[in-house]
Amino acid sequence: MHYAHSNTWLSKHVSDQFVKKSKRFGYRSRAWFKLNEIQKINNVISPGMTVLDLGSSPGGWSQYASKQVKKQGHVISCDIQPMHAIPKVSFILGDVFKKNILNNIFKKIKNKIDVILCDIAPNITGITEIDHPKCINMNYKILNLYRSILLKNGIFVIKSFHGSDLITFYTEIKQLFNKIKIFKPNASRAHSKEIYIIAIGYKK
Ligand SMILES: C[S@@+](CC[C@H](N)C(=O)[O-])C[C@H]1O[C@@H](n2cnc3c(N)ncnc32)[C@H](O)[C@@H]1O
Repeated sequence: MHYAHSNTWLSKHVSDQFVKKSKRFGYRSRAWFKLNEIQKINNVISPGMTVLDLGSSPGGWSQYASKQVKKQGHVISCDIQPMHAIPKVSFILGDVFKKNILNNIFKKIKNKIDVILCDIAPNITGITEIDHPKCINMNYKILNLYRSILLKNGIFVIKSFHGSDLITFYTEIKQLFNKIKIFKPNASRAHSKEIYIIAIGYKK
C-alpha cells in the first residue's frame, strides 16, 4: 500500500517534470519525450522518410518527427482535434477510422509510408473490463486499415495497453514484422497501463 502510494507520487512527480520541460522548450506536449525515448533506443525515424502520425494533436510527435525526417522527408498527421500548423507537416482534421479521412490520407501519400505512428487514446470509462477490449480493438482496426500503405521493411509504433488481450494482439502483429518489442518510456506515467508496441521490418 505504502509502495503503491509512493510509486504514484513519484510517477506524477516525474511526469510533471516532463510537462514543465515541454513548456520550457516549446514542445507541444509531454508526449514529445516519449517519442524521443522511442527514437533514441530504437532509431525508428531517419532523414528522408515519410511518416504518418495518427492521433497527432496537440503535435509533440509531429514536431519531433518533422525534425528527424529533415528537409527531404515528410510528415502527414491526423486528429479529430485541430492542431496548430507545424512546418513540413500536412495535417488532416478528422477521424482516422472514417472512410473519407482514410481516402484523404491515402491521397496525400506519394511514395507510401516508411513509418506509422499511432498515439491514439480512445475515450475510457475507467472500467478495465470495458476499456481494455476497446483499446485492443482499436489497435487491430488501425493495423488492418493502415498496413496496406506501409512499405516493405516499414516501421509501426502504436500505443497499446497492458491487459489480457494484449498478448493476442502482440502475437498477431509479431507475425507481420521481423522484430517487435514492448516499450514503456520513462515519460509515460508508471501507474498507467499504457505501453508502446514497436514493430520493425514489415514483411508485406
Ligand atoms: C495522447 S493524444 C496524442 C498526443 C500526441 N502524440 C502528441 O505528441 O502531442 C491522443 C490523440 O488521439 C486523438 N484521437 C482519438 N481518437 C481519434 C480518432 N478516431 N481519430 C483521430 N484522432 C483521434 C485525440 O484527439 C488526441 O489528440
